[in-house]
Amino acid sequence: MNPHARQAAWRLLESSVVTYQGQPVGTVAAQDTDIAALNYDQVFTRDFAISAFAFLLDGRAEIVRNFLHTAVRLQSQERQLDCFKPGKGLMPASFKVSCAGNRETLIGDFGEHAIARVAPVDSGFWWLLILQSYVRATGDWAFAHRQDLQQAPRLILDLCLTSRFDMFPTMLVPDGSFMIDRRMGVYGYPLDIQAQFFAALCAASELLDDSDAASAAYRPVLDERLSHLAHHVRTYYWLDLPRLGQIYRYGVEEYGPTSINKFNIYPDTIPDWLMDWLPERGGYLVGNLGPGRLDYRWFGQGNLLACAAGLASPDQTGAIMQLLVDRQEDLIGAMPAKLCFPALADQDWRILTGCDPKNRPWSYHNGGHWPMLLWLLTLVSLQTGAEDLAERALHTAERRLLQDDWPEYYDGRRGRLVGQQARRQQTWSAAGYLVACQLLEQPERAALLRMGRAISGRGCVS
Ligand code: GLC
Repeated sequence: MNPHARQAAWRLLESSVVTYQGQPVGTVAAQDTDIAALNYDQVFTRDFAISAFAFLLDGRAEIVRNFLHTAVRLQSQERQLDCFKPGKGLMPASFKVSCAGNRETLIGDFGEHAIARVAPVDSGFWWLLILQSYVRATGDWAFAHRQDLQQAPRLILDLCLTSRFDMFPTMLVPDGSFMIDRRMGVYGYPLDIQAQFFAALCAASELLDDSDAASAAYRPVLDERLSHLAHHVRTYYWLDLPRLGQIYRYGVEEYGPTSINKFNIYPDTIPDWLMDWLPERGGYLVGNLGPGRLDYRWFGQGNLLACAAGLASPDQTGAIMQLLVDRQEDLIGAMPAKLCFPALADQDWRILTGCDPKNRPWSYHNGGHWPMLLWLLTLVSLQTGAEDLAERALHTAERRLLQDDWPEYYDGRRGRLVGQQARRQQTWSAAGYLVACQLLEQPERAALLRMGRAISGRGCVS
């Protein structure tokens, strides 16, 4: 590990801290002064999660506790009939502290100001995961059992578990509702959301206080949903060579309970790249599944989170790690790690991104590389005994991250160039690197970030 890179990363993280009434409450997303800040000067819930893990692993819990409390104050608490107000239970995508004279005010953004007005479905999930790791690190159950801290997860659960039109255990969301917060064809049932949903339900189940009748009432619902969700994702999202062979020979237009091709996937949807790319060993969870739709793309964050949280079965987790090794040129590359593979190009790019130049092929969300994923890659590597993979990833990343001043993302098939519109001094690039260093240095600390739970059922590794 490079001590200069580490010191620089800590300096960046410290300088990103935002205070409210004299207390640290979060970290800004980036501090690049050469590009218009837009909302990068705000505290993003998903970005702060990684800062929170770095602080907690360093024994500094105060900022995390303050953040958790601040987000609860901003959480939408009232049932809204006004469709322009955030729905009850929603956590902000980001917030800022606005100053007028001596007066400081907290202002949340629930997507109503964001580019393209995207809804932050993942914010409540990240909030739960931050609270879970805070309690693990501090043992401060008194905080988690406070009335307002019990009500917050219940409101998140109400928002996720209420009745809706579809009848799947997965969660239906609009495009761009998570880390990929631009149009990218990730509407419907994207894997990233399902993996976070699973991890967040597990966290809620750990955090809800059974001695509080209102909280205890959620337990049976949570247990049931978790097991259906795991079964659904392990069975229908799984892809390896034998499974691809089945899809290739699928019958279609089957009606009723005995149908095998339940989602009516046409074999012609199998993309050309996949046939040769999928190795003999290994497999992964596909990016999305809905009526007549299988999105065959690899999504790094969704697959890694599914491994970390136990949504992927143990066999599937092993196969995903195998794929990462066999296809490391594509999935890890010169700057760990690829967010989505392969990139959408040509007509697909036009239709699915709406001709978005920021997401042109092999850039940004569309096939770019995101160093913030280092924390998750390291966590899963340690959990599966693949330390060497994590060590190599860290070694590959650190010199360039320091030299390039912590860019937000890298472009190109192998991630060799600083992203065309990437901000420098991006907080979660530094925090992701720091968490990876902390975990590799003291692997037992991975227990603080443990997510999910073991669910029986092997999934369908062939
Ligand atoms: C971009 C990313 C989003 C991140 C935000 C702040 O919008 O797509 O995931 O939260 O920047 O870093």
